[in-house]
Amino acid sequence: MASRSPKGVFDIIPARLLRDSKEPWRAAELWQWLESEIRDLARCYHFQEIRTPMFERTELFARGVGEDSDIVTKEMYTFEDKGKRSMTLRPEGTAPVMRAFIDHKLQDKSPINKFFYIAPMFRYERPQSGRYRQHHQFGVEAIGDASPEQDAEVIDLLVNLYRRLGIQELTVQLNTLGSEESRTRFRKALRAHLEPLRDQLSEDSQRRLESNPLRILDSKDEADRRAIAAAPTLMDFLDEGEIEHFRAVQAALDEVGIAYSVQPQLVRGLDYYNGVVFEVVTQSLGAQNSIGGGGRYDGLLKTLGGSDLPACGFGSGMERILQTVLAQQPGFWKESGPQLYFIPLGSAARQLCFRLTHELRMAGLAVEMDATGRKLKKLMSYANSSTAQYTAIVGDDELAAGIVKLKHMESGEETSVPLKELALFFEAGGVAAAQQDQQSSE
Ligand code: HAM
Repeated sequence: MASRSPKGVFDIIPARLLRDSKEPWRAAELWQWLESEIRDLARCYHFQEIRTPMFERTELFARGVGEDSDIVTKEMYTFEDKGKRSMTLRPEGTAPVMRAFIDHKLQDKSPINKFFYIAPMFRYERPQSGRYRQHHQFGVEAIGDASPEQDAEVIDLLVNLYRRLGIQELTVQLNTLGSEESRTRFRKALRAHLEPLRDQLSEDSQRRLESNPLRILDSKDEADRRAIAAAPTLMDFLDEGEIEHFRAVQAALDEVGIAYSVQPQLVRGLDYYNGVVFEVVTQSLGAQNSIGGGGRYDGLLKTLGGSDLPACGFGSGMERILQTVLAQQPGFWKESGPQLYFIPLGSAARQLCFRLTHELRMAGLAVEMDATGRKLKKLMSYANSSTAQYTAIVGDDELAAGIVKLKHMESGEETSVPLKELALFFEAGGVAAAQQDQQSSE
């Protein structure tokens, strides 16, 4: 059917249209709130916004994310454009930011560049709760600083966002993947451990035994998990400097009171990582419990043809953030309708209300008016359902007196306000303020 949305995607719509929905996280007001919290926090950390195109050349992701990653082998939305070039809808944000960095020679403009983005990502995954074919990420990428404080800063930023949103019961899992040399030594040892157990491994892991055995550590498959239970850990293959860096990141996190748990088997699904990696998991989501993750990827810029600069960052799924917020604080979000809803009775009133609506909007108020002339009962019920704060029925009497009665929809209380003072009434805070005035003059 032409009118059905593709599988695994969703619409974000006003909250009042989602009452009784099983997916209240699709409320547009929630997304606006989240985005404004993100922007404000990014400002505090001085990460600046970058917007890259929704699609890139396919080879960017093949080279950047890794030929053997799930994303590249199974999940990309790839198409040939009319010029016969292979293009891919962005499955993740890091490689595109590196591409933009190289294109604009940003290394010549500033020694350190810290970016954030809020953007849709596309992955052809099996849709389920918390997993979509178009999802949205808040991501950051900090380029140019190899210090442990830089790793800690991005983790601090992410944790602070969750704190700001009131999210609790999160675990920050931390690991380090070390340098390419350390991982080569470790890979050899891991292969030697797993080779005799090859038959017990899942099909994916058997394939990865040659191409990328580290990813087997990340497998959720039961049999794989049994096979790696007694495997050597990467930690034993790190050199002094890498261990020191990892310890310094932990010390910096301790310094700002961020709790974490070291998980030697955390490897993450994208091939560009080295050094410290992390994932934040929540108990409030089902199987898809990773609310955000990232790490250091010092070699990526060079692999893509840029300068050899260190970098690290994270991506956090915005659907999962909102789902966690609502799971932990049901009813957290209160809808808000217009501040005032005019119901004019008759054409003279309509003309006046049209002007008043315009003037109040110019004064910064959220105002709606009815121009359909539907039955009063219907209009009052609409005012209720749109959660208007006040309604004003304007008829001949009101026109003659130059005064309107504002009905406060929640309390039912009515206040008479001269037409000319409407803006003032709202600026002063409405009924509550009017009552206070009355009390103080008594
Ligand atoms: P990622 O772990 O693939 O990392 O995705 C980051 C986050 O996006 C996940 O933790 C999850 O919250 C969310 N996410 C991923 N796939 C889906 C999906 N299909 N549906 C809903 N949410 C999803 C990256 O993408 C890296 N680029 C992160 C990064 C930035 N590392 C360094 N810089």
